[in-house]
Amino acid sequence: MDTIVSVAIGAALTLVVVAVHYARGTGWEPPADISQDVLEQRAAAVPETDFPEPMNRSIGGGAAGAIPSGEGGAELAEGDEEEEDEGFDPEAIADDEVEYYEIEFAKEGETIEIANNENILDMGEEEGWDLPYACRQGQCVSCAGQIQDGAALDYIQHEHNEALFDDDLDDGYCLTCVAYPTDDFTIETGEQP
Ligand code: FES
Repeated sequence: MDTIVSVAIGAALTLVVVAVHYARGTGWEPPADISQDVLEQRAAAVPETDFPEPMNRSIGGGAAGAIPSGEGGAELAEGDEEEEDEGFDPEAIADDEVEYYEIEFAKEGETIEIANNENILDMGEEEGWDLPYACRQGQCVSCAGQIQDGAALDYIQHEHNEALFDDDLDDGYCLTCVAYPTDDFTIETGEQP
């Protein structure tokens, strides 16, 4: 009988000690939630772009196409390009100013006429050729081709170029999705610098 009473008293005391312990709390407090701050800081560190990000890597471009590679810190031709192409709007070309040029697609083995308000990529696709592209906005190099006759800007003008360097342009590379002819030329499609 004494044993039972002792055990009951022990159990009761244990319960009292446990209850007192939890009633006082542990003093622990959860750390402040900084996840939103971290997200905002990361967002601020990433440069803004209008480029549709998923398209960047999903269609034909790949990482190599998304960011142009330059040698020795070469700068984008964007500054020069913008200066040169600034204000160029193919849709603003009046009907009586439309001119046609003979563009030879070397790999496709055909020459077609393309107007100065039509881009190389669109016209090639109209022929049924499966030409590479991704953004169609001059922001990657997926659609690049190489003009065989000389520096690209002697033969086309870009509506928009955020991907090619001066050296690339001098080597004849152009972005076919935003390239409009200003002369006859031969182009190798699917050639990137
Ligand atoms: S498809 Fe990206 S620049 Fe032409």
